[in-house]
Amino acid sequence: MSDHAPILSVRGLFKSYRMAGREIAVLRGVDLDLQRGEMLAIVGHSGSGKSTLLHQIGLLDRPDGGEVLYCGEVMPLVGARAALARNRRFGFVFQFYHLLPEFDAVENVLMPAMILQGAGEWRRRKRELRQRAETLLARFGLAERMHHRPPQLSGGERQRVAIARSLMNEPAILLCDEPTGNLDRNTAAEVRTLLGELNRVDQQSMVVVTHDREFAADADRTLELLDGTLRTS
Ligand SMILES: Nc1ncnc2c1ncn2[C@@H]1O[C@H](COP(=O)(O)OP(=O)(O)OP(=O)(O)O)[C@@H](O)[C@H]1O
Ligand SMILES: [Mg+2]
Repeated sequence: MSDHAPILSVRGLFKSYRMAGREIAVLRGVDLDLQRGEMLAIVGHSGSGKSTLLHQIGLLDRPDGGEVLYCGEVMPLVGARAALARNRRFGFVFQFYHLLPEFDAVENVLMPAMILQGAGEWRRRKRELRQRAETLLARFGLAERMHHRPPQLSGGERQRVAIARSLMNEPAILLCDEPTGNLDRNTAAEVRTLLGELNRVDQQSMVVVTHDREFAADADRTLELLDGTLRTS
């Protein structure tokens, strides 16, 4: 592992889907470097493969070919080692939040820590981890919403809970898939500001897939996914 290598690199990533006997090649040799502390925006038309790319980068799905490197170290792409690397290194923010409706805000934020820690460690550190979850929620203006369940929260509040959750395990890299895509203009601006602050103040490295032009304008760099490869936008 090297301190000088990009925090994240993708080399020659390929991914196809087979539907009704037909193969659709979505990613056709994607290369990408993310520098430490960088905010990279990825744009591209609907169906160009942006979500597919984020899923491969974040070790949520297995590419057909290529490598994902973290600080120059090749990441495992399958099995328990991939799951561990995913939970330790990456935080995820999705367009539709993906919160668990039967759990309150604090419990949702705690979920990645419960998964990462395992039963014994979880019991030992529960108080400290709960404190961290509450601090994150308070930071994002949700001190009065700790025990609301997702159906009792607005869209913007849900996304702020999801961002708190994405930070719970102190991920090296945040992967955001259309984080403002389901929000009205003002709420989208709030979420954009929040992610921008995380990048500038905390030097949080992040990749943001977005249709939101203002988001792309905030980013250090924007790449476009077109015909299965990334190019400068
Ligand atoms: N699980 C799957 N099985 C088959 N085809 C899939 C699967 N997931 C995605 N695809 C196809 O791969 C292509 C890329 O999909 P993807 O969701 O990555 O696009 P996207 O750029 O994120 O689009 P959007 O902007 O609408 O979110 C699409 O043609 C889609 O139909
Ligand atoms: Mg998508």
